[in-house]
Amino acid sequence: MKIRKMDPGDAQAVRNLICKYLLKTDPTSPDEDAQVDLIGIDAALARTDPAMLWNVAVVEDELVGCCMIAQSHFADDVWEIGNLTVTKKYRRQGIGSGLIIECEEYAHFHDGKLILLASDKPKIYRKLGYKEIRGGRGTMRKRL
Ligand SMILES: CC(C)(COP(=O)(O)OP(=O)(O)OC[C@H]1O[C@@H](n2cnc3c(N)ncnc32)[C@H](O)[C@@H]1OP(=O)(O)O)[C@@H](O)C(=O)NCCC(=O)NCCS
Repeated sequence: MKIRKMDPGDAQAVRNLICKYLLKTDPTSPDEDAQVDLIGIDAALARTDPAMLWNVAVVEDELVGCCMIAQSHFADDVWEIGNLTVTKKYRRQGIGSGLIIECEEYAHFHDGKLILLASDKPKIYRKLGYKEIRGGRGTMRKRL
């Protein structure tokens, strides 16, 4: 398994992963709500500036996971993680954690001091040192 920065040629496979496991829709004919959600996802996938990074996990040329991190609009030293997904077959092998860690390292390299995220799967993040924000309804944070 290799974790690396997404290439432009990976965008479709990443989009398919997000459709399947996060939006829970058919990538070839997304439902109406998913079509709206995909406007933001497609815009994020097209970005190439350093304030946004997509990492992917690859096993024998198959893209099996993804995670993005982006600089927050609130402050330059705050970054936000999102779109963490690993295909069912490859879960519980540390790939999700590896993707998060690579994103954290990128934010740290760019002088990030705080990571924020919203998740309904807090366990993986707690294990990596994230804490729920009190009153934050599923929002978590980690100081770098
Ligand atoms: C969440 C997800 C990305 C985890 O990926 P993964 O590669 O399995 O994660 P890891 O192997 O690094 O797991 C790290 C830890 O997270 C926790 N964890 C992972 N999957 C879990 C699950 N299904 N149920 C409970 N805990 C889980 C465990 O504590 C695990 O450690 P352990 O295996 O030593 O017990 C994956 O389950 C997934 O893609 N789910 C569907 C999409 C999703 O919900 N994404 C998160 C959006 S915030």
